[in-house]
Amino acid sequence: MYEPSHLAGWKLVTSAVHSKGGAIFSQLFHAGRVTHSSITGPGGPVSASPTGISGLIRTPSGKQPYEVPAELTLGQIKGVVADFRAAAERAVEAGFDGIELHAGNGYLLQSFLAQKTNTRDDDYGGASVENRARLVLEIVDACVDAIGADRGVTFSDLVEPEDDALAQLDYLGPQLAQRQLAYVCLSSLNGDPYYKFAGLPEPNFKVDPFKYFRERYSGVLAVNGGLQPQQTAAYVADGTANFAFFGVLYVANANLPELIKASAPLNYGGADASTWYGGSPDDDAKNFTDWPLTAP
Ligand SMILES: Cc1cc2nc3c(=O)[nH]c(=O)nc-3n(C[C@H](O)[C@H](O)[C@H](O)COP(=O)(O)O)c2cc1C
Repeated sequence: MYEPSHLAGWKLVTSAVHSKGGAIFSQLFHAGRVTHSSITGPGGPVSASPTGISGLIRTPSGKQPYEVPAELTLGQIKGVVADFRAAAERAVEAGFDGIELHAGNGYLLQSFLAQKTNTRDDDYGGASVENRARLVLEIVDACVDAIGADRGVTFSDLVEPEDDALAQLDYLGPQLAQRQLAYVCLSSLNGDPYYKFAGLPEPNFKVDPFKYFRERYSGVLAVNGGLQPQQTAAYVADGTANFAFFGVLYVANANLPELIKASAPLNYGGADASTWYGGSPDDDAKNFTDWPLTAP
């Protein structure tokens, strides 16, 4: 979606979805520091501040250590806002019903939001949550201006095991409500099993992040993150959420809505993380997209 040439391919996808009565959103994201110069080309990874990631990243020539990202200049930040705006316009032109801004999972927008990856001393960083949220809100506003709030400008993954995630929610809740977006998806990686992936012995926060956010955000809210259908039904029933997103459960249950509707047993085999991103081009689908459908 970052190049006009992507539109022709996506038009085929969006029209196929619409022909079956479906709706489809395009999630827009900037990888920030979670990439490699062999993928980005000259310039390499960029982030709020030059804070690297330990470990290895998968590249076309095998796994390599992460590189220390370059800090975005103020001029480059303006360029990022313009890029998101242009991508939102292209998404609508390609037939998407809306866009979703990815503000989590350690990518660029979250590197600005989180204190530990944002040590800037300008208007986009530092101890002030308001400064750290500035880029995200500028991008929301640019996309709303370009395609309208009712097209579904949204967020995912605001809650991460960060020390200051609740302070971010305190500030972002009312700010996002004011913008009357189609929805916000709050994805919590604070619960089981995700805090374990982050290397924590127990959840970072003892509060329920969805109820916490609902007290601060009055708009349409989707919840996600380690949730079972019964839990999401309870969140909808008590007014915490308007709807829910499922990730891992979809891997081995492509007809998940029908299975949930029929209270049919679900296949939990897709939770095997070792198969998620494929090993080689020959077995990418194995245990990932090749699960047989279960009749509800
Ligand atoms: C294989 C895989 C790919 C994912 N890709 C994305 C992605 O592109 N964008 C995103 O926001 N979340 C992505 N996620 C995260 C899920 O959307 C979801 O937030 C996460 O899996 C937690 O929810 P769950 O417990 O229902 O799976 C991905 C998860 C998995 C397992």
